[in-house]
Amino acid sequence: MAFVSDDLYNEICMANDIVDYASSFLSLKKSGRSYMACCPFHNEKTPSFHIDRDKQLFHCFGCGASGNFVQFVMRMEGLDYRDAIKLLAERAGINIPENGIRQSTEMTKKKDAIIEMNRAAARYFYDMLMDPVKGREARAYFASRKLSRKTIIKFGLGYAPDSQDGLLQLLRGKGYNDKQAVDAGLAVIRRDKAVDKFRGRVMFPIINVRGKVIGFGGRVLGSEVLEGGFKLAKYLNTPETPVFDKGSNLFALNLAKNSNETDMILCEGYMDVITLHQAGITNAVATLGTAITPQQAKLLLRYGREILICYDMDEAGTKAALRAIDVIAEAGGRSRVIRITGAKDPDEYITKYGVSGFRKAVEKAAPSTEFRISIIKRKYDLTDTEGKIRFVDETAQILAGLSDPVEVEAYIKKTSADTGISEQSIFGKYTECRGKAKKSAPARTKEEYKRREVNRINSGKPPQERVTNVVLEAEKRLLSLIAQSRHLSLEAAAIMPAEEFSNDVYRRLAEKMYACAAAAEPVEASVILDSFSGDPAAENMAAAVFFNNEVYSDNDKTLFDLIYTIKKNKLEARINNAVDPQEIGELIKLESELDKERTEWGKHGGKTTEGPNI
Ligand code: UTP
Ligand code: MN
Repeated sequence: MAFVSDDLYNEICMANDIVDYASSFLSLKKSGRSYMACCPFHNEKTPSFHIDRDKQLFHCFGCGASGNFVQFVMRMEGLDYRDAIKLLAERAGINIPENGIRQSTEMTKKKDAIIEMNRAAARYFYDMLMDPVKGREARAYFASRKLSRKTIIKFGLGYAPDSQDGLLQLLRGKGYNDKQAVDAGLAVIRRDKAVDKFRGRVMFPIINVRGKVIGFGGRVLGSEVLEGGFKLAKYLNTPETPVFDKGSNLFALNLAKNSNETDMILCEGYMDVITLHQAGITNAVATLGTAITPQQAKLLLRYGREILICYDMDEAGTKAALRAIDVIAEAGGRSRVIRITGAKDPDEYITKYGVSGFRKAVEKAAPSTEFRISIIKRKYDLTDTEGKIRFVDETAQILAGLSDPVEVEAYIKKTSADTGISEQSIFGKYTECRGKAKKSAPARTKEEYKRREVNRINSGKPPQERVTNVVLEAEKRLLSLIAQSRHLSLEAAAIMPAEEFSNDVYRRLAEKMYACAAAAEPVEASVILDSFSGDPAAENMAAAVFFNNEVYSDNDKTLFDLIYTIKKNKLEARINNAVDPQEIGELIKLESELDKERTEWGKHGGKTTEGPNI
């Protein structure tokens, strides 16, 4: 994303005005603080398209299109990010230097310091792992996962002992202050005091293609870890920092880029990747705990001709694979899906079937279209006429989205052979779908739009993880609220960690806002939205947060009410979906604890008087 420096980006955006730009092709009407027009992205008779001049954002309450100025230009002009910036620079008569970068020395210094701290931390974690006494348990854990010493060294794995401030002390000794450690994501503030963020976890450094440690993933030892009745997250990852963006880096790409394979293997888990590399399959990488983004797909396609998706074989993994196929296709790449039948994940597959077994599965990897068709085929009984018709229907819809006519023809032939329905009829269906597929109709009402969002977020999730409209709406309002005030953001960070948000977009937003608050930096909607560029659905959802300007009489109370609503609703959903009586009992206990905890919120922890409210 760093085509121009932050400074230059701001300069270019400041020199332009979204209202000014939009008014050259929309007839805008002023209404309160915003400007309204009929939406340029869908057909409508009454205006539901809004522009916020102060924030330089756009949002359509009809179709949900939303984003910052640059994203608006990208969509209006059909340009990519780079060209949209160029167009805006030209409009303002600003010259973009050859390398595009004109970064402030202060930011460069900050980034360098974080990289240095990360390096020291990685060294410390490694030393702790190798410490005869302190590292014993962690070494035993890695041994139980069958990792050799060579693998541990290759990946620079380590161990963060269960100590309050072991790492902090080391960093202080090197001349860094606690704020710097917090900014680097290595420490957190608990009860007004900095403590190590990673405690009692085995550590996986995340290293970029230039060999710099940009962040960490930390895993609990073993499976079930309960602390004060709460299950600890299996993995804890470095939050968003100036050097760490989860959406644009990949685990082990620093190693995989040097493999001589033509294609790249994309996994879900760090452990999957490590096991594959240990077995000699050195072209495997993983995302950093989130679904693959367009930036990651583009990055990966620089090193591999095709992306071989190697996800878990359960329903969630299958859904994630289908989504990855779309993201990769949108990034202009091709993908295939490795089917690891007979094991729950690649890690287990290698252990069960060996390298030769895995290589066979790679050879048999299904081209993305074949995989998609095979998934719908499972749903229907092809010996039944009705089943055949439905199957052909859905297949035609998939084919309608393809751009290669040869591919289309090949699959029409295959579908015909599978069903006995003539190629001609299937081709007819295909053309019909192609006409319709041009544009899926936008939502007609706000409610319909929300319903679609909820469905999109829930797709592929097990029942206990699905969210309701209530939770989603509360999360959105919570984020809107904390975007407006540092004090509220710090309070929220203390009781509602970013991981607790129900979807990727909100989680990333919370991380970014919490990071701004911790660093006493203002929340720049436009800059934050930029990191969602290239994924219109995420862009829309994120921008809608900043578009919400509701004002409350008591912000603190509203904040706590919203957080309570979210936590309570989620617990209730889990209770309703639980079957094991013991689990139900535990959840009910958690629920009453939540009610008790609530009375403590705002009394300590989050309250702060330092720094301005921004
Ligand atoms: P997995 O649960 O498949 O993890 O989650 P894994 O790496 O295979 O680990 P093992 O085998 O259980 O030890 C896949 C990825 O999702 C992210 C991590 O990046 C993990 O590697 N994740 C998972 C989180 O970020 N947080 C979690 O709590 C769990
Ligand atoms: Mn695993």
